[in-house]
Amino acid sequence: MDVATTQSDQPAAAVPAGMPWSDNFLLGFGPMDEVHREFVTCVDQLLRSTDADLYARLEAFERHAQAHFSEERDLMQSTEYPVRQCHIDEHEAVLSSVQQVLPLLKAGRVDLARSLSAELARWFPQHAQYMDGPVAQWLVRKATGAYPLVFRRRPSQAPSGV
Ligand SMILES: [Fe+2]
Ligand SMILES: [Fe+2]
Repeated sequence: MDVATTQSDQPAAAVPAGMPWSDNFLLGFGPMDEVHREFVTCVDQLLRSTDADLYARLEAFERHAQAHFSEERDLMQSTEYPVRQCHIDEHEAVLSSVQQVLPLLKAGRVDLARSLSAELARWFPQHAQYMDGPVAQWLVRKATGAYPLVFRRRPSQAPSGV
């Protein structure tokens, strides 16, 4: 994810209007599901932000990401999860992009912060499914000897924003 340093001739991808919670993000390991709800809330607030609030919301996202990613790193390291380095590297790439964009946003590059917000919303579902999901299964199996059970509401039963 490198939105800070490149200028492209390609038309910018559409920026979504928000990021609603989906039960498809549930992994069945409570602490990770909880922090993922916070992630979605932070990105939703970024996407809905006015220009005036954008810097504070990106700073809030950075604080969230620091805590979220270090919590997952600690869980993987303390349980000796075998393929953790690529996961940790991906977190660091995301955090690095946020930290590159913050000073540029302060200098007026609202467009970069908008692109980054859209990129975060696109990045998360796949990361949660393919990187966080196996970690959640590993942690639940370590604790219980069984795979996690995940209960998802049907889309028609899920109130928006919950
Ligand atoms: Fe995560
Ligand atoms: Fe992760």
